[in-house]
Amino acid sequence: MPASADQQGSDRIDRVLVCIPTYNERENLPRIVQRVRAAVPHADVLVLDDNSPDGTGAVADELVAADPQVHVLHRPGKQGLGNAYLAGFAWALDQGYGAIVEMDADGSHQPEQLPTLLAALPDADLVIGARWVRGGSVVNWPLHRKALSVGANLYTRALLGMPVHDATAGYRVYRASALEAIGLDHVASQGYCFQVDLTQRAVRMGLRVVEVPITFVEREVGDSKMSGDIMRESLQRITAWGVSHRADQVRRLGRREPTWHRL
Ligand code: GDD
Ligand code: MN
Repeated sequence: MPASADQQGSDRIDRVLVCIPTYNERENLPRIVQRVRAAVPHADVLVLDDNSPDGTGAVADELVAADPQVHVLHRPGKQGLGNAYLAGFAWALDQGYGAIVEMDADGSHQPEQLPTLLAALPDADLVIGARWVRGGSVVNWPLHRKALSVGANLYTRALLGMPVHDATAGYRVYRASALEAIGLDHVASQGYCFQVDLTQRAVRMGLRVVEVPITFVEREVGDSKMSGDIMRESLQRITAWGVSHRADQVRRLGRREPTWHRL
């Protein structure tokens, strides 16, 4: 029996929490929250704000005061996307949510496509809203951003050999049981490579990863937080995981054991 099957019945996947990390998203936040609430009215929202200098935290407080389905975690300072999600996931599991969504605050991940992602969850442990699959696309990205994302995914596939086309994607739905199975205590990735990190952990554990095509729309307001440090962390960590995965494959070949990516 796959790791997930016995937990399938116990997950309340109709209890949905949409986690939205924010750093300087004052103008975008009210709009994205309103779109989520309209697109999936039964879903709750959790804003993860890293004490944004532009006052996003105060905007979140106003949204929380106006709507009992909106919540916020105020964090002391900018600690990275991965770190914000880890705090959100811990809160979600503690509160008993069965389906936990990752969504950017800037409108790139369209809430109107969330029902399609959620519809795939009954047969999945992790649903990835993917750009680099048939039917997926990116709107208004400059060529260098496209090249970076395609390159990062090619590099990740080459090193980790995962059957996933958009491992860096940030629009996702996790089953609560998948996050519990993965175990979040050991995740050290701080920046955007958090996405690749959890993808490889899910695949390695034999969890069911399903990609659903999405249209990613570049933000119109505010700036991307992608930086040289974030890229460096990704390159270093993915390379290290790749080297250890390939070394493991060689060891298993010697012992004629199956390698995890062929599960
Ligand atoms: N709390 C918190 N802390 N939020 C953060 C931080 C942080 O340190 N850094 C970024 N964010 C939030 C932003 O405010 C936004 O809501 C979301 O994370 C994504 O940040 P962007 O800066 O808009 O990301 P992007 O558009 O460049 O990157 C997108 O593509 C990447 C590569 O595919 C995202 O979808 C990433 O998740 C994805 O990995
Ligand atoms: Mn963005």
